[in-house]
Amino acid sequence: MKFFLDTANTDEIKQALDWGLCDGVTTNPTLIAREGRNMEDAVKEIADLVGDRPVSAEVLAVEHDAIVEEAQERAAWAPNVVVKIPTIPEGVKAMRTCSELGIPINATLIFSSAQALLAAKAGAAYVSPFVGRQDDVGYDGMRTVEEIAVMLRNYDALTSEIILASARTVGHVIRGTQCGAHIVTLPFKTLEQLFKHPMTDIGLESFLNDYREMQEQLGG
Ligand code: G3P
Repeated sequence: MKFFLDTANTDEIKQALDWGLCDGVTTNPTLIAREGRNMEDAVKEIADLVGDRPVSAEVLAVEHDAIVEEAQERAAWAPNVVVKIPTIPEGVKAMRTCSELGIPINATLIFSSAQALLAAKAGAAYVSPFVGRQDDVGYDGMRTVEEIAVMLRNYDALTSEIILASARTVGHVIRGTQCGAHIVTLPFKTLEQLFKHPMTDIGLESFLNDYREMQEQLGG
């Protein structure tokens, strides 16, 4: 499973790269706004930082021609930019146009396998079901991931990869590996949580203490 970082914060991206745990980055307008930055500047800097790994940048338009125009602009920012388009009727139409133009698309705001099917049929390189936000409103978001994974396995012509988005917990990541998500996009906090287990900290402390005590006894 690939790990993308769901952030526009360059310090977080640098840390994840240093750990060897960043296969790409996804942004959205909220994440860019959180950094108080202009989207073009932020995405160009991130795209440069991550080398040839994909960086998703979202369109703000909601009508076909305007979406395609924005998609072309964003794709010209850097060779590794993937354009995020909302999975609405005009968006799906624009996904098809952009895919035909060779612009890689991340179909975003997916909340059902039906929406993922439409995006996959339109040639989206990635489909992004929002698992956490489905859980928020009482659905099992991971069921959607499972359904999409089965659907994509059943049809060779549908070549989209699943990005498990809105991943908020370690459980989301682990269940995602079992449900067939190709990629999970993680907030930095969730990436950090993957490392954590109290038994590891307790075990490490006792290993180091035991050895230190033995050295002190030998030295003394
Ligand atoms: O980037 C889209 C998605 O990952 C948003 O996550 O936590 O705001 O639902 P969240």
